[in-house]
Amino acid sequence: MSFQPKNVLFFGATGAIGSYILDAVLSARAEFDRLVIFTSQTTVQNKSTLLADLKEKYKVEVIVGDIQDEDAVKKAYEGIDTVVSAVGRGAIATQLPLIRLANASPSVKWFFPSEYGTDVAYSPASASEKPHQQKLKVRALLENKTEVPDLAYTYVVTGPFADYYVRFSGAREAGGWDVKNKKATLLSDRGESKISLTTMKDVGILTLAALRHPAAAFNKALRVNSFTTTPAEIQAEFERQTGGQPWSDVTYTSLETLRQSEAAAWESGSPAATVWTLRRIWTEGGTLYEQRDNALIGEPAMQTLTDVVSEAVRQAS
Ligand SMILES: NC(=O)c1ccc[n+]([C@@H]2O[C@H](COP(=O)([O-])OP(=O)(O)OC[C@H]3O[C@@H](n4cnc5c(N)ncnc54)[C@H](OP(=O)(O)O)[C@@H]3O)[C@@H](O)[C@H]2O)c1
Repeated sequence: MSFQPKNVLFFGATGAIGSYILDAVLSARAEFDRLVIFTSQTTVQNKSTLLADLKEKYKVEVIVGDIQDEDAVKKAYEGIDTVVSAVGRGAIATQLPLIRLANASPSVKWFFPSEYGTDVAYSPASASEKPHQQKLKVRALLENKTEVPDLAYTYVVTGPFADYYVRFSGAREAGGWDVKNKKATLLSDRGESKISLTTMKDVGILTLAALRHPAAAFNKALRVNSFTTTPAEIQAEFERQTGGQPWSDVTYTSLETLRQSEAAAWESGSPAATVWTLRRIWTEGGTLYEQRDNALIGEPAMQTLTDVVSEAVRQAS
């Protein structure tokens, strides 16, 4: 295959994970001709310094518009060969028209929908998981060769972001590590269930690696990660990096408790329901693969558990 992406347009490029993807691509700026960000007026107002910097330092083109404005998107696609979307969870369905427009565009050949997480087609049970429904619709459209015959796709499937996994971000029972108070909650009975994690920096590096390897990445879910570990190993690493003594306040959340909290959250319409479902899936082993695909895209160097813990310790000090 002779195709190499040269003119790339990003949706959600200044978001939580989009900014890591953009950073990685900017580190290889010379490999691309045009890098274009399609962003909202809100982002222009809130992140004006960042956008000015991107234009000035990296010659990134910034298009301001509404992703639901088809004429604006059509115009933005002119001359673009690859679209990388990192829109937030609330905007996953807005990618459906973006994909149809990309397919109709004479120049766009390749589309990365916003994935960067749990594999929504991991097992037959995945089809009925509530948080997966919008991403599954996006995949169904991209794989529908009648409706979308002219567009290749790549799903960058990374599992949970390690940076988020090692923090508390809600109920204590949902798991996490608190360095200041030497307090942790490990998911699974004895913290021994394996989990595959990717740091946010590595999500960027892996997406760039996919862009560099179109032949391997075309029409594929790339199941990649930084490392596989267990909550118990993470705990041991935190203890090692904080003086070598056992932490006094360590609790465990069993799968059974996760399932109960998940059911209660969906029942009450809590916004945390998605978090409980994902954590239950991860603790069941839903991030593990017999073989990861990093080698298909050049086996870029990845961060380690030591790096993630040392960053969490640094942030706490
Ligand atoms: N693996 C994990 O642990 C993990 C964790 C979090 C997220 N993710 C995944 O990563 C992807 C990106 O998530 P994120 O958290 O990085 O996104 P985010 O920061 O919430 O949003 C990214 C961008 O999406 C655009 N957007 C436009 N309309 C939106 C809407 N209605 N709701 C939300 N965003 C909208 C905005 O860009 P503009 O203003 O520039 O238009 C926004 O900056 C998602 O697929 C998500 O599921 C994975």
